[in-house]
Order: sequence, then structure tokens, then C-alpha cells
Amino acid sequence: MEDMESIMTIALWGLTGVLGIALAMKVTERLQLSFAKHPSLGGHLRMAKRVAKWIPGYSYAQDKWFTADGAPQAIADQRRTALADLGQALQSKSPQTLAQTQATKPMVSDMQLTSQYRVPFQFRNLLAQFIQTGSFWSASEGAWLTDMDGNPFIDVTGSYGVNLFGMDFYKSCIQEGVAMAEKLGPVLGSYHPCVLDNVKQLCEISGQEEVSFHMSGTEAVMQAVRLARYHTQKRKLVRFTGAYHGWWDDVQPGPGNPMPPSSDSLTLNEMHPNTLRVLRNRNDIACVLVNPLQAMHVNKAAPTDSTLVDGSRQVHFDRQAYAQWLAELRKVCTDKGIALIMDEVFLGFRLAEGGAQAYFHVKADLVTYGKTLGGGLPVGVVCGQSRWMKRFNDKNPGDICFARGTFNAHPYVMATMNVFLNRLKTSEVQNLYANATALWQQRQNQLNHALKAADLPVRVAGMETIWSVLYDKPSRYNWMFQYYLRKHGIALSWVGSGRMIFSLAMDESVFDLF
Ligand SMILES: Cc1ncc(COP(=O)(O)O)c(C=O)c1O
Repeated sequence: MEDMESIMTIALWGLTGVLGIALAMKVTERLQLSFAKHPSLGGHLRMAKRVAKWIPGYSYAQDKWFTADGAPQAIADQRRTALADLGQALQSKSPQTLAQTQATKPMVSDMQLTSQYRVPFQFRNLLAQFIQTGSFWSASEGAWLTDMDGNPFIDVTGSYGVNLFGMDFYKSCIQEGVAMAEKLGPVLGSYHPCVLDNVKQLCEISGQEEVSFHMSGTEAVMQAVRLARYHTQKRKLVRFTGAYHGWWDDVQPGPGNPMPPSSDSLTLNEMHPNTLRVLRNRNDIACVLVNPLQAMHVNKAAPTDSTLVDGSRQVHFDRQAYAQWLAELRKVCTDKGIALIMDEVFLGFRLAEGGAQAYFHVKADLVTYGKTLGGGLPVGVVCGQSRWMKRFNDKNPGDICFARGTFNAHPYVMATMNVFLNRLKTSEVQNLYANATALWQQRQNQLNHALKAADLPVRVAGMETIWSVLYDKPSRYNWMFQYYLRKHGIALSWVGSGRMIFSLAMDESVFDLF
């Protein structure tokens, strides 16, 4: 009997010990995760969602609007007159474009959203009484866009990054693509003959073995993550604070998504050793997603003018440091069998022909492309090593990784992509790539020089052909700059002065006008 009691006591102690160790391990894992989060709200998405709900909607009335920084009455009066003049100038410049925008906006929710988020929210109601922004273009040529009133604007909207070689380039890609696909027409579910050439070229450019076609960048990312989960049999994806990977729930947790952040998606601090520790110590991570555009503003979201609350903005690009970070990430992913996914939907083909992989000297397991690769038509592509791309299990026929889409590999898109890929090999495009880094750095320096010489409190910074306007003097009104640029014929996207996207083909004569 006594023996039995002793055995029970030992077993209980043993069990308590095991539970204690398991608990300690869980607590350590949790703490490591907490330390690997970026300290900003962007790194704490549950809290960010809570805070977002608490922010009361309010608008500055006339008096406060013009004196938000405590300016004296005389300055407020000057501002009121300047705003009215600016609004009047924009109205008389583009009456038709603005009328069309006003007529369409009540029926297009996307237009309503983007027009709401161009400036800090306190200012927008009164601003709308003075200034309207047109959302229509009627023509494009070279680096120029023309509004419905015939006004030319220099295009730095970049068409969300698609416009890498100038609009004429894409127009002719589409024309040639349509001619190539015409005979087959929109036959879906099988392939236009040009697809073989597309996949060969994509494998070569990406340094990968297989390709899958999708209809948007968002879908390409969804597929890359699904494949990583399938092959690792693990659930968690790691993304970095501030990085955009499309609007699918798992990669767009936090404010903007009505669902609470999924526990399968970890948002970690980019370029931080604590993140590497989490990747090394956990055993439930399927993939790490990298958007190399973040190299310009690590751990921060796109620098929109609506967030210019205090007028400051930080952009700093260090190519070597980012390459070093990617090399460390590569190593830990290889050691742990985690899929490293380079999301090149935005930057693919912009930094170099071989994309961010070539530019930062890193080899990913899966790469996503989109935007410019469609030659002007909508597309998403995943390239990867066969062991990551395979969608079924030879030993178990029921074990498949399903992904389809009615319009995948649409003949017109494939043909236009084929024209795009073939054009990459021309000497014209090769020359653009060869000189890009030096040329765009020199242009950045040249513009900053001119801004300094003119004693203006703005300058530009960025990565290759993607720039942000930085404001030397903090102000509650720096976001107004976007409207003055528009008045002077520069077209920005709704993000505003935080993201100017140039085409590699913009020549000196246009840049000088800048
Ligand atoms: C890096 C990145 N990934 C994915 C996407 C989503 O692509 P799409 O808008 O074609 O769905 C974007 C779009 O901006 C992107 O920049």
C-alpha cells in the first residue's frame, strides 16, 4: 500500500514537472512573440483595431480649420483666401472632369473611400467645400495623362505600379497581344500556344522551376501561401508590419478588415533579430512573406497624405542593409523548412529584370508577380521550385491543393504578357535597366539640389523610381501640397505625395519640367 502511495506521489510530481515545463515553454514562446512585434500600433493589430474604433469622428469648423497650428488671425485669413483661390483654379481648369467625378461618386463606393482618405480626417469636410479632385482621365501619351478637359498632367500615379515603361509601351503590348490571341479568342480552361514561351521566360527570369497563372496579385499571394501551408503542413504565415500583400484577410489583418486578426497570421518586426529568433524557435510557421517595397520605409505602411497629421514622414533606403536582412531571413527559412515568399507584385521588373531577387541577391522559394507583367492587362503569377508548386500527392490521391480561376491564363492576357516578356529583351529596355540606378539617383539629387537652391522646405527620397516627398518643416498642412502639385499639372495617385511612381522611360525633357 505504501509502495503504491510512493509511486502515485512520484507520478504526480513527474506530471507536475512535465506540465510546468510545458507551461514554461508556452510562456517563453509567447514572450518571444511579443518581443518580435514592432512597438507601434501597426505591430499590435488587435489593439490597433480597438483604438481605431475609439477614434471619434470630428471635423474642424472654419475657425479651427485655418488655425489648427495656433496661427494668428492674419495668417488664417491668408490661408482662407489661398484655399478659395486654389479651389477656384482647379475648378476652372477642369470643370468637365470634376462634374463627371461628382456625378459618378455617389454610385461608386471605391471613389467615395479614396476621396475620404486623401487628407487627415479632421480637415476633409470643409476642404470638400473648397476643393474637388477629378478621378477621370480621357487619354494618355508617353509620360502624360490628359483629363476630360484636355489638360495635360505628368503621370506619377504610375497606375499602381503597372506603368514601368510608359503608357505607349503598354498600349502597343495590348494591341499586339490582341492580334496574337484574336484567332483563338477567349477560350478558357486550356492554353494559347504562347504560354509555353511565357513559362520558359518566367522560369528563367525568376530562377524558379514552375509557374501558375492567376487573375490578380492578391490571388497570386493567396496561392503562394496556400502552397506553403500544403507542403509544410503548418498553418502560420509571417508578414511584416506595414507591408501590403493585397486585400485577402490573412495578409491584411487589422484596421480595414472587419474580421479580427487571425491567429494564423503573425505580424512581426522587420529587420529585427527578435523576429529571427521567433522563426528559429517556433515549429508552426509555414511561410514568411516579404514585400521588398518596405525597404523604403521598414515597418511602416504606405506613406499616404492622410497620415500626415504632424506633417512629418520618414523614408530611408539602405540597399545593403536590406540585402543583409534578406540573407539572414533566407538562412533561417532554409534551416527551418519555412517557405520564403518574395512578393514582387509591385516591384517585380522595376528594380531589375530579375526583380527584387536579383537586386537584393536573394533566392526565394516562391515568388509572386503581377501588375506590369500583364503588359497592361490584369494578372497574377506564382513562380517556385517544383517541390513547393506541386498540387497533389502521388501517394495519396485525395490529398490535393486546389486552386483554380475561370480567367486564369486568359489567351489575351497570355499573349500580351508574351509581348511584354519579349520586349524586355530588346536593347531599348536593356539600356533602361542598365542605367536605371545611377540615373534615378542622379535625378533625385538634382531635384533635391534645385529644391534647396529655391529654399523650399521639401525634398524627395526613395528607392530607384519610387519616391516620397519629405517635408523639412513639420506642419499641420503639409498634405495640401498634393493639390498645388495637381494645379501645376502633376498627377498623383490618391495616396498623394507619399508615393510618386515614375516610369523608367520618362525622358530628360519631361523630368526637367518636374
Ligand atoms: C506587394 C503587393 N502584393 C500584392 C498586391 C495585390 O495585387 P492586386 O491589386 O493585383 O490584387 C499588391 C498591390 O498593390 C502589392 O503591391
